[in-house]
Amino acid sequence: MAESRIKLPKLKSVVVFRLPYLRHLKYRAKNAWIKHRWRSYYRKEILRFFNQALDFDPIEFALRARQRPSDCLIEINNTCNLRCPMCSTNLSKREKKNMDLGTYRRVLERVKEAGINIVSLYTVGEPLVYPWLEEAVSIAKNMGIRIGISTNANLVERLKNLYASNPEWIESFGFSVDGATPQTYEKMRRGGELKKVMESCEWILRVNKHRHMSRIALSITCVISKDNIREIATFMHRFSKYTFPECIHFMLVNSLSPDTTYFDERSLSFSNLYRLNVPCHISVFNRIYVNNEGQVTLCCRDYENKLVIGDVLIQPLLAVWRSEQADKIRRQHLGKKDLTIAECKKCYFPKPGLDELLNSYIHYLQYVENDFDDTIWCNKILDFLRDLNAQLGDSEKREERIKKVLSHL
Ligand SMILES: C[S@@+](CC[C@H](N)C(=O)[O-])C[C@H]1O[C@@H](n2cnc3c(N)ncnc32)[C@H](O)[C@@H]1O
Repeated sequence: MAESRIKLPKLKSVVVFRLPYLRHLKYRAKNAWIKHRWRSYYRKEILRFFNQALDFDPIEFALRARQRPSDCLIEINNTCNLRCPMCSTNLSKREKKNMDLGTYRRVLERVKEAGINIVSLYTVGEPLVYPWLEEAVSIAKNMGIRIGISTNANLVERLKNLYASNPEWIESFGFSVDGATPQTYEKMRRGGELKKVMESCEWILRVNKHRHMSRIALSITCVISKDNIREIATFMHRFSKYTFPECIHFMLVNSLSPDTTYFDERSLSFSNLYRLNVPCHISVFNRIYVNNEGQVTLCCRDYENKLVIGDVLIQPLLAVWRSEQADKIRRQHLGKKDLTIAECKKCYFPKPGLDELLNSYIHYLQYVENDFDDTIWCNKILDFLRDLNAQLGDSEKREERIKKVLSHL
C-alpha cells in the first residue's frame, strides 16, 4: 500500500516531464473532443466555475487544508534584473540577499525529511541572477530532489550555462513573458527585452531537437492586463512554435505587489471576477515558502516577513507547517472580520477557478477561430469575461445566472 503511494506520483511526473509527446497527444485528443462538443464542454466548465465561485465555503476549505504543503518554494535570492510594475520586488525593505549554500543544503534536508521531492527555486526574485545556481541544482540532484525554475528568460548565456552544468536534471523551465510585441513587453517587463526572450526560446528549440522523448518541458505564462489583452492571439501564435500550446498559460493580474497602482489601473475592469483573497486559496492553506534566511512563510510575496511561521534551520518543516503560529494566521483567514494582516487585507485575486476557465476559453479560441486575429480574440475574451462578471454580480438565482452565461456560447 505504502509502495503504491510512492509510485503513483512518480508515474505522473514521468508522463509530465519525460514524455511530453504523450501529454500532448492527450491534449490533442481533448481539444478534438472540445472542438466537436464545445458547447457541452464549456457548459460543464462554467458550471464548475460558478459552483466554485458561489459555493466557496471558507470553513470547508480550511478543513480540507493539507496535512502537508502541496508545494514548496525556496527563495534562493530576492534580487531581480527587472522592475516589473505588477511585482515591484525592489519595494521590499528586506535586505537583498542570496541564500548561502549551507543554508540551502539544510533547507533541502528539511524538505526531504518532510517527504517533499520537488521544489521551486524562486519566489519573487529572478533565479538566474543567483550566483550559485549550478551548485544549487547539483545539490538537489545529489539529494534526489527535482527542481522547477521560473525565469524572465532575459539572461540567455546564464540559461545555457545552467543547462550545460546539469543537463539530466534540468527537466523544465517556466518563462514568464506577458507581451507579444516589444512595446508591450517592455512596458510590463521593465528593463527586459523581448528579443532576449525569443533567443532563449530559440535555444530551447535547438536543445529539444536532439532530445525527442525527453525534451525540456517549457511552459510560458502571460499575466493578462489592459496592456496586453489586445495581443493574446499574437502571443499564442508566436509562442506555440516553442512549446505545446497547452503549456502556454494565461492568468489575470492580481494585486500582490506592495504598490497596487498597476493592479488598480491596469487590471481588467470586471470587479465581480475578483475577490479579497480571504481565505487565501493560493498560499496560506496550501504552500510553504522558505525565505533566503531559512525562515518559513505562508505568502509568496512576503516582502516584509509578516507571515513568517518558523525557521527551518531550527525546526522540522512539518512542525513549522503545523505550528501554533501557522494556525494563528490560518484562523485569521477564516473570515474577513478576523483579518488584521495589512498585506492580506489588500490582496485581490481572481475568484477560484477563474484563471483555469479563462485558459480553457483562450485555448478553445485557437480551434474555433480561423486565424490569429488580435481584434477578434480580444473582443471575444472581453465579451466572455463581461458576461461572467455581469452574472456573478447578479442577485438572481444561480440557475438563472448560469443559463444566461450558457446562452452566450
Ligand atoms: C514574481 S515572478 C518570479 C520568478 C521569475 N523572476 C519570473 O519572472 O518568472 C513569478 C511569476 O509571478 C508572476 N507575477 C508577478 N506579479 C504578478 C501579479 N501582480 N499578478 C499575477 N502574476 C504576477 C510573474 O509573471 C511570474 O510568472
